[in-house]
Amino acid sequence: MKGVILAGGLGSRLHPLTKITNKHLLPVHDQPMIYYPIKTLINAGIEDIMIVTGGNSAGDFLRLLGNGKDFGLKHLNYTYQEGEGGIADALSLVEHFAEDESICVVLGDNIIEGNIAAAADEYRKQGKGAKILLKRVHDPQRFGVPELDGERVVKIEEKPSDPKSDFAVIGIYFYDASVFKVIKTLVPSDRGELEITDVNNHYINRGEMTWNELSGWWTDAGTFESLLRASNLVAESGANNL
Ligand code: G1P
Repeated sequence: MKGVILAGGLGSRLHPLTKITNKHLLPVHDQPMIYYPIKTLINAGIEDIMIVTGGNSAGDFLRLLGNGKDFGLKHLNYTYQEGEGGIADALSLVEHFAEDESICVVLGDNIIEGNIAAAADEYRKQGKGAKILLKRVHDPQRFGVPELDGERVVKIEEKPSDPKSDFAVIGIYFYDASVFKVIKTLVPSDRGELEITDVNNHYINRGEMTWNELSGWWTDAGTFESLLRASNLVAESGANNL
C-alpha cells in the first residue's frame, strides 16, 4: 500500500496566516503540521509516500522535508495541484504514482493521537474497496457525517445542517486503484470542488465500504479554533503515540 498526503489548498479559513505560506507548514505545537500526517503513514508501515501540494509555497516543502531523512525515509515523492479543485481533484494527480496499488490518503491537516496500524492491516486483508475511519464529535456539521444502519454505513453527507449521527468521517481513507475511475465520474459540488464524500458514497453504493472507529483523539487544524486545539492536544499528550 502506498501513502498520499494532500497538502494543497489556499487555507483561506486561516487568513492572514496562510497569505504567505501553505497551511501545512504552519506550526502545531513544536512541529510543522505536515510532520504529523507523515508520521501517521510511517506508523502504519507505509513508507512510499506522495505529497500533493500547491500554491506559492510549494518549494518550501522540499526545503523542509527533502527526501524524508528526518523520518528515516530514503525518498519522498511530490506533485503539484494547480488551482483549487478540491480533495478528490488533488487525489486524481496521484494515479500514475499508485500504479494499481491500493492507497492510504491522509488530509494534511488531520492529526491523530494514536495510529492507524490496525485499520491498515484490516484493509490489507480486505484487499479491495475502501475503508473510512469515524470519530464521535460534538460538532458533526463541520464534517462529512455518516448515516448508520446498525453497523452498516448507508450514506455520507458533507457538512449536513441536520446530521444523521454524531460521527465525523475523519480525513484518513483507504482506497483500491478503482478510486481514479470513480473520481473521473464526479461533478463539482455547490462549493465548486470534487468532494471526497462523493468518492466514499460511490464505494458505499457498490457495497465495498468498511469503517473503523478511531481510538485516541483526532482533530483537524484548518481553522483558528482547531489549529489552537491541535497545538494544545499535542502539547498535552503528544501525537502518534498510542
Ligand atoms: C474535509 C472533508 C470532510 C472531512 C474533513 C476531515 O472537509 O470534506 O468530509 O470530514 O475533511 O477533516 P474540509 O476540511 O475540506 O472542510
